[in-house]
Amino acid sequence: MKRLFSGIQPTGAVHVGNYLGAILNWRELQSEYDAVFCIVDLHAITINYDVATLQDRIERMAATLLACGLDAPDRCTLFVQSHVPAHTELAWYLNTVTPLAELQRMTQFKSKSQQHEKNINAGLLTYPCLQAADILLYKGEVVPVGEDQVQHIELSRIIARKWNNRFSPLFPEPAERVSYGKRIKGLDGQAKMSKSLDNYLDVLEEPAGIWEKLRPAFTDPARLRRSDPGTPEICNIHALHTYFSSPEEIGRVEEGCRSAGLGCFDCKRILADNMAAHFAPVRARSAELLADRSALREILRKGAQRAQEMAAATMVEVRKAMGLA
Ligand code: TYM
Repeated sequence: MKRLFSGIQPTGAVHVGNYLGAILNWRELQSEYDAVFCIVDLHAITINYDVATLQDRIERMAATLLACGLDAPDRCTLFVQSHVPAHTELAWYLNTVTPLAELQRMTQFKSKSQQHEKNINAGLLTYPCLQAADILLYKGEVVPVGEDQVQHIELSRIIARKWNNRFSPLFPEPAERVSYGKRIKGLDGQAKMSKSLDNYLDVLEEPAGIWEKLRPAFTDPARLRRSDPGTPEICNIHALHTYFSSPEEIGRVEEGCRSAGLGCFDCKRILADNMAAHFAPVRARSAELLADRSALREILRKGAQRAQEMAAATMVEVRKAMGLA
Protein backbone atom coordinates (compact mmCIF):
# COMPACT_ATOMS: atom_id res chain seq x y z
CA MET A 1 0.00 0.00 0.00
CA LYS A 2 1.18 3.49 -0.81
CA ARG A 3 1.84 5.76 2.14
CA LEU A 4 -0.43 8.75 2.72
CA PHE A 5 0.41 11.55 5.12
CA SER A 6 -1.47 14.61 6.30
CA GLY A 7 -1.57 16.93 9.29
CA ILE A 8 -3.72 19.42 11.14
CA GLN A 9 -2.92 22.07 13.72
CA PRO A 10 -4.38 21.68 17.22
CA THR A 11 -6.13 25.04 17.12
CA GLY A 12 -8.92 23.94 19.46
CA ALA A 13 -11.66 23.47 16.91
CA VAL A 14 -12.15 21.53 13.72
CA HIS A 15 -14.10 23.87 11.48
CA VAL A 16 -16.29 23.04 8.53
CA GLY A 17 -13.44 24.08 6.16
CA ASN A 18 -11.08 21.52 7.71
CA TYR A 19 -13.84 18.95 7.64
CA LEU A 20 -14.86 19.37 3.99
CA GLY A 21 -11.40 20.27 2.72
CA ALA A 22 -9.42 17.57 4.45
CA ILE A 23 -10.98 15.26 7.02
CA LEU A 24 -13.76 13.79 4.86
CA ASN A 25 -11.09 12.92 2.34
CA TRP A 26 -8.88 11.42 5.05
CA ARG A 27 -11.71 9.21 6.20
CA GLU A 28 -12.30 7.97 2.66
CA LEU A 29 -8.64 7.35 1.88
CA GLN A 30 -7.62 5.59 5.09
CA SER A 31 -8.63 2.21 3.66
CA GLU A 32 -6.95 2.79 0.29
CA TYR A 33 -3.57 3.81 1.70
CA ASP A 34 -1.25 3.22 4.60
CA ALA A 35 -2.52 6.42 6.16
CA VAL A 36 -0.61 8.48 8.72
CA PHE A 37 -2.29 11.50 10.32
CA CYS A 38 -0.49 13.94 12.54
CA ILE A 39 -1.62 16.59 15.02
CA VAL A 40 1.05 19.19 14.36
CA ASP A 41 1.69 20.88 17.70
CA LEU A 42 5.18 22.00 16.63
CA HIS A 43 3.67 24.02 13.80
CA ALA A 44 1.09 25.54 16.15
CA ILE A 45 3.75 27.14 18.37
CA THR A 46 5.02 29.40 15.58
CA ILE A 47 2.36 31.92 16.61
CA ASN A 48 1.59 33.17 20.11
CA TYR A 49 -0.34 30.48 21.92
CA ASP A 50 -1.70 29.59 25.30
CA VAL A 51 0.74 27.16 26.95
CA ALA A 52 -1.71 26.10 29.67
CA THR A 53 -4.34 24.80 27.25
CA LEU A 54 -2.19 23.26 24.50
CA GLN A 55 -2.43 19.68 25.81
CA ASP A 56 -6.18 19.97 26.09
CA ARG A 57 -6.44 21.31 22.53
CA ILE A 58 -4.34 18.41 21.25
CA GLU A 59 -6.61 15.89 22.97
CA ARG A 60 -9.74 17.63 21.74
CA MET A 61 -8.37 17.59 18.23
CA ALA A 62 -7.65 13.86 18.52
CA ALA A 63 -11.16 13.18 19.84
CA THR A 64 -12.76 15.18 17.04
CA LEU A 65 -10.73 13.45 14.33
CA LEU A 66 -11.65 10.04 15.71
CA ALA A 67 -15.28 11.11 16.00
CA CYS A 68 -15.20 12.25 12.35
CA GLY A 69 -14.33 8.71 11.36
CA LEU A 70 -10.55 8.28 11.51
CA ASP A 71 -10.24 4.74 12.72
CA ALA A 72 -7.01 4.76 14.73
CA PRO A 73 -5.14 2.67 15.59
CA ASP A 74 -6.85 -0.04 13.48
CA ARG A 75 -7.10 1.49 10.01
CA CYS A 76 -4.77 4.48 10.29
CA THR A 77 -1.99 5.91 12.42
CA LEU A 78 -2.89 9.02 14.42
CA PHE A 79 -0.22 10.69 16.51
CA VAL A 80 1.11 13.96 17.90
CA GLN A 81 4.06 15.50 16.06
CA SER A 82 6.15 16.32 19.15
CA HIS A 83 5.91 12.70 20.32
CA VAL A 84 8.28 11.79 17.46
CA PRO A 85 11.38 13.99 17.84
CA ALA A 86 12.74 12.95 14.43
CA HIS A 87 10.43 15.55 12.85
CA THR A 88 12.60 18.36 14.17
CA GLU A 89 15.84 16.58 13.37
CA LEU A 90 14.87 16.01 9.75
CA ALA A 91 13.49 19.55 9.53
CA TRP A 92 16.94 20.89 10.39
CA TYR A 93 18.59 18.80 7.70
CA LEU A 94 16.01 19.96 5.16
CA ASN A 95 16.61 23.57 6.20
CA THR A 96 20.09 23.22 4.79
CA VAL A 97 18.87 22.39 1.28
CA THR A 98 15.90 24.79 1.16
CA PRO A 99 16.43 28.04 -0.74
CA LEU A 100 15.61 31.05 1.41
CA ALA A 101 13.83 32.71 -1.51
CA GLU A 102 11.36 29.82 -1.76
CA LEU A 103 10.43 30.26 1.89
CA GLN A 104 10.06 34.00 1.55
CA ARG A 105 7.60 33.74 -1.29
CA MET A 106 5.15 31.44 0.51
CA THR A 107 1.74 33.11 0.74
CA GLN A 108 1.15 31.64 4.21
CA PHE A 109 4.38 33.20 5.47
CA LYS A 110 3.30 36.55 4.05
CA SER A 111 -0.21 36.41 5.48
CA LYS A 112 0.93 35.15 8.90
CA SER A 113 3.62 37.83 9.03
CA GLN A 114 0.88 40.38 8.50
CA GLN A 115 -1.45 38.81 11.05
CA HIS A 116 1.28 38.49 13.68
CA GLU A 117 3.48 41.46 12.95
CA LYS A 118 4.80 41.56 16.53
CA ASN A 119 6.03 37.96 16.30
CA ILE A 120 7.62 37.32 12.92
CA ASN A 121 9.92 34.56 14.13
CA ALA A 122 12.21 32.29 12.14
CA GLY A 123 9.86 29.35 12.73
CA LEU A 124 7.16 31.10 10.75
CA LEU A 125 9.56 31.29 7.82
CA THR A 126 10.95 27.75 8.01
CA TYR A 127 7.50 26.27 8.74
CA PRO A 128 7.44 24.56 5.29
CA CYS A 129 10.73 22.74 6.07
CA LEU A 130 9.07 21.15 9.09
CA GLN A 131 6.04 20.35 6.96
CA ALA A 132 8.28 18.72 4.33
CA ALA A 133 9.98 16.76 7.13
CA ASP A 134 6.58 15.51 8.34
CA ILE A 135 5.82 14.03 4.95
CA LEU A 136 9.29 12.81 3.95
CA LEU A 137 10.00 11.17 7.31
CA TYR A 138 7.30 8.64 6.39
CA LYS A 139 8.12 8.69 2.67
CA GLY A 140 4.59 9.92 2.13
CA GLU A 141 3.53 9.86 -1.51
CA VAL A 142 0.01 11.24 -1.30
CA VAL A 143 -0.95 14.26 0.78
CA PRO A 144 -4.65 15.08 1.04
CA VAL A 145 -5.05 18.81 1.81
CA GLY A 146 -7.19 21.83 1.08
CA GLU A 147 -6.12 24.29 -1.58
CA ASP A 148 -4.38 26.63 0.88
CA GLN A 149 -1.73 23.98 1.56
CA VAL A 150 -0.90 23.14 -2.06
CA GLN A 151 1.94 25.66 -2.25
CA HIS A 152 3.58 23.99 0.76
CA ILE A 153 3.31 20.56 -0.85
CA GLU A 154 4.88 21.93 -4.03
CA LEU A 155 7.75 23.20 -1.92
CA SER A 156 8.00 19.79 -0.23
CA ARG A 157 8.59 18.33 -3.68
CA ILE A 158 11.32 20.86 -4.41
CA ILE A 159 12.96 20.11 -1.06
CA ALA A 160 12.75 16.33 -1.64
CA ARG A 161 14.31 16.75 -5.08
CA LYS A 162 17.14 18.93 -3.79
CA TRP A 163 17.95 16.55 -0.95
CA ASN A 164 17.75 13.48 -3.25
CA ASN A 165 20.06 15.14 -5.82
CA ARG A 166 22.57 16.19 -3.22
CA PHE A 167 22.68 13.01 -1.11
CA SER A 168 20.80 9.91 -2.23
CA PRO A 169 17.49 9.17 -4.02
CA LEU A 170 15.65 8.32 -0.82
CA PHE A 171 12.45 10.35 -0.82
CA PRO A 172 9.49 9.96 -3.16
CA GLU A 173 8.23 13.35 -4.32
CA PRO A 174 4.91 13.84 -2.52
CA ALA A 175 1.78 14.76 -4.49
CA GLU A 176 -1.10 16.76 -3.08
CA ARG A 177 -4.60 15.42 -3.41
CA VAL A 178 -7.22 18.11 -3.11
CA SER A 179 -10.83 17.33 -2.43
CA TYR A 180 -14.04 18.61 -3.95
CA GLY A 181 -14.38 20.96 -0.95
CA LYS A 182 -10.90 22.32 -1.41
CA ARG A 183 -11.67 25.95 -0.55
CA ILE A 184 -14.59 26.50 1.79
CA LYS A 185 -15.45 30.14 2.31
CA GLY A 186 -16.06 31.55 5.76
CA LEU A 187 -19.39 32.79 7.06
CA ASP A 188 -18.39 36.27 5.91
CA GLY A 189 -18.70 34.94 2.36
CA GLN A 190 -15.33 36.55 1.51
CA ALA A 191 -12.19 34.88 2.84
CA LYS A 192 -11.59 31.15 3.22
CA MET A 193 -12.98 29.75 6.43
CA SER A 194 -10.32 29.91 9.12
CA LYS A 195 -9.96 30.04 12.87
CA SER A 196 -7.79 33.14 12.75
CA LEU A 197 -10.39 35.15 10.81
CA ASP A 198 -13.17 34.09 13.19
CA ASN A 199 -15.47 33.34 10.27
CA TYR A 200 -15.78 29.65 11.04
CA LEU A 201 -18.27 27.10 12.21
CA ASP A 202 -16.99 24.45 14.62
CA VAL A 203 -18.13 20.91 13.73
CA LEU A 204 -18.88 20.39 17.44
CA GLU A 205 -21.15 23.43 17.65
CA GLU A 206 -24.55 22.80 19.30
CA PRO A 207 -27.61 23.11 17.02
CA ALA A 208 -28.56 26.45 18.60
CA GLY A 209 -25.02 27.71 18.05
CA ILE A 210 -25.05 26.62 14.41
CA TRP A 211 -28.17 28.67 13.87
CA GLU A 212 -26.76 31.65 15.75
CA LYS A 213 -23.72 31.65 13.47
CA LEU A 214 -25.59 30.97 10.22
CA ARG A 215 -28.38 33.48 10.78
CA PRO A 216 -26.21 36.60 10.26
CA ALA A 217 -23.93 34.88 7.69
CA PHE A 218 -23.33 36.56 4.35
CA THR A 219 -25.58 35.57 1.43
CA ASP A 220 -25.63 36.60 -2.18
CA PRO A 221 -29.07 35.81 -3.63
CA ALA A 222 -28.78 38.52 -6.32
CA ARG A 223 -25.61 36.94 -7.65
CA LEU A 224 -27.16 33.50 -7.53
CA ARG A 225 -30.15 34.73 -9.56
CA ARG A 226 -27.85 36.20 -12.19
CA SER A 227 -25.86 32.97 -12.55
CA ASP A 228 -26.64 29.92 -14.66
CA PRO A 229 -28.45 27.13 -12.78
CA GLY A 230 -26.08 24.70 -11.16
CA THR A 231 -23.10 27.10 -11.11
CA PRO A 232 -21.10 26.15 -8.03
CA GLU A 233 -19.91 28.50 -5.28
CA ILE A 234 -22.15 31.44 -6.15
CA CYS A 235 -23.69 32.06 -2.77
CA ASN A 236 -21.82 30.92 0.30
CA ILE A 237 -24.90 29.44 1.93
CA HIS A 238 -25.91 27.69 -1.26
CA ALA A 239 -22.40 26.21 -1.47
CA LEU A 240 -22.80 24.75 2.02
CA HIS A 241 -26.16 23.27 1.04
CA THR A 242 -24.36 21.24 -1.62
CA TYR A 243 -22.47 19.43 1.13
CA PHE A 244 -25.13 19.04 3.79
CA SER A 245 -28.50 18.87 2.02
CA SER A 246 -30.09 16.18 -0.13
CA PRO A 247 -30.09 16.64 -3.94
CA GLU A 248 -33.84 17.37 -3.84
CA GLU A 249 -33.38 20.00 -1.16
CA ILE A 250 -30.48 21.60 -3.02
CA GLY A 251 -32.70 21.84 -6.10
CA ARG A 252 -35.55 23.21 -4.02
CA VAL A 253 -33.54 25.94 -2.29
CA GLU A 254 -31.92 27.01 -5.55
CA GLU A 255 -35.25 27.16 -7.32
CA GLY A 256 -36.79 28.96 -4.32
CA CYS A 257 -33.98 31.52 -4.32
CA ARG A 258 -34.20 32.16 -8.08
CA SER A 259 -37.96 32.67 -7.94
CA ALA A 260 -37.67 34.66 -4.70
CA GLY A 261 -40.14 32.19 -3.22
CA LEU A 262 -37.66 31.23 -0.50
CA GLY A 263 -35.92 33.91 1.55
CA CYS A 264 -32.38 33.71 2.90
CA PHE A 265 -33.68 33.24 6.44
CA ASP A 266 -35.57 30.07 5.53
CA CYS A 267 -32.77 28.85 3.29
CA LYS A 268 -30.37 29.16 6.23
CA ARG A 269 -32.83 27.50 8.58
CA ILE A 270 -32.90 24.39 6.37
CA LEU A 271 -29.12 24.37 6.19
CA ALA A 272 -28.74 24.81 9.97
CA ASP A 273 -31.04 21.85 10.61
CA ASN A 274 -29.20 19.66 8.13
CA MET A 275 -25.80 20.58 9.51
CA ALA A 276 -26.96 19.96 13.07
CA ALA A 277 -28.23 16.51 12.04
CA HIS A 278 -25.04 15.76 10.09
CA PHE A 279 -22.76 16.59 13.00
CA ALA A 280 -24.90 15.20 15.84
CA PRO A 281 -23.11 11.81 15.84
CA VAL A 282 -19.70 13.52 15.67
CA ARG A 283 -20.57 15.63 18.71
CA ALA A 284 -21.84 12.62 20.64
CA ARG A 285 -18.83 10.47 19.81
CA SER A 286 -16.27 13.13 20.64
CA ALA A 287 -17.92 13.73 24.02
CA GLU A 288 -17.64 10.00 24.73
CA LEU A 289 -13.99 9.96 23.73
CA LEU A 290 -13.19 13.00 25.88
CA ALA A 291 -14.84 11.39 28.87
CA ASP A 292 -12.02 8.82 28.98
CA ARG A 293 -8.81 10.77 28.54
CA SER A 294 -6.53 7.89 29.40
CA ALA A 295 -8.04 5.74 26.63
CA LEU A 296 -7.62 8.66 24.24
CA ARG A 297 -3.97 9.12 25.25
CA GLU A 298 -3.44 5.41 24.74
CA ILE A 299 -4.60 5.68 21.12
CA LEU A 300 -2.13 8.55 20.59
CA ARG A 301 0.64 6.61 22.31
CA LYS A 302 0.11 3.63 20.00
CA GLY A 303 0.13 5.99 17.03
CA ALA A 304 3.37 7.59 18.14
CA GLN A 305 4.95 4.19 18.66
CA ARG A 306 4.17 3.10 15.11
CA ALA A 307 5.20 6.49 13.69
CA GLN A 308 8.42 6.36 15.69
CA GLU A 309 9.32 2.98 14.17
CA MET A 310 8.84 4.26 10.63
CA ALA A 311 10.67 7.50 11.40
CA ALA A 312 13.64 5.72 12.98
CA ALA A 313 14.16 3.61 9.86
CA THR A 314 14.16 6.69 7.63
CA MET A 315 16.53 8.60 9.91
CA VAL A 316 19.12 5.81 9.81
CA GLU A 317 19.18 6.17 6.01
CA VAL A 318 19.18 9.98 6.14
CA ARG A 319 22.08 10.26 8.60
CA LYS A 320 24.10 7.74 6.64
CA ALA A 321 23.48 9.51 3.32
CA MET A 322 24.51 12.83 4.85
CA GLY A 323 27.72 11.49 6.37
CA LEU A 324 26.39 11.97 9.88
CA ALA A 325 26.67 8.30 10.77
P1 TYM B 1 -4.42 23.45 8.93
O1 TYM B 1 -4.38 22.94 10.32
O2 TYM B 1 -4.52 24.92 8.73
O3 TYM B 1 -5.63 22.80 8.16
C1 TYM B 1 -5.87 21.40 8.13
C2 TYM B 1 -6.44 21.00 6.78
O4 TYM B 1 -7.66 21.71 6.52
C3 TYM B 1 -7.59 22.34 5.24
N1 TYM B 1 -8.36 23.60 5.27
C4 TYM B 1 -9.32 23.92 4.40
N2 TYM B 1 -9.81 23.28 3.32
C5 TYM B 1 -10.80 23.88 2.63
N3 TYM B 1 -11.32 25.09 2.96
C6 TYM B 1 -10.87 25.77 4.03
N4 TYM B 1 -11.40 26.96 4.35
C7 TYM B 1 -9.81 25.20 4.81
N5 TYM B 1 -9.12 25.58 5.90
C8 TYM B 1 -8.24 24.59 6.18
C9 TYM B 1 -6.11 22.61 5.02
O5 TYM B 1 -5.79 22.78 3.66
C10 TYM B 1 -5.48 21.37 5.62
O6 TYM B 1 -5.48 20.32 4.68
N6 TYM B 1 0.41 23.24 7.57
C11 TYM B 1 -0.82 22.46 7.70
C12 TYM B 1 -0.67 21.24 8.57
C13 TYM B 1 0.44 20.32 8.21
C14 TYM B 1 0.45 19.40 7.12
C15 TYM B 1 1.70 18.73 7.21
C16 TYM B 1 -0.44 19.09 6.11
C17 TYM B 1 1.61 20.19 8.87
N7 TYM B 1 2.38 19.24 8.27
C18 TYM B 1 2.08 17.76 6.27
C19 TYM B 1 -0.08 18.11 5.19
C20 TYM B 1 1.16 17.46 5.26
C21 TYM B 1 -1.88 23.34 8.30
O7 TYM B 1 -1.61 24.32 8.96
O8 TYM B 1 -3.18 22.88 8.11
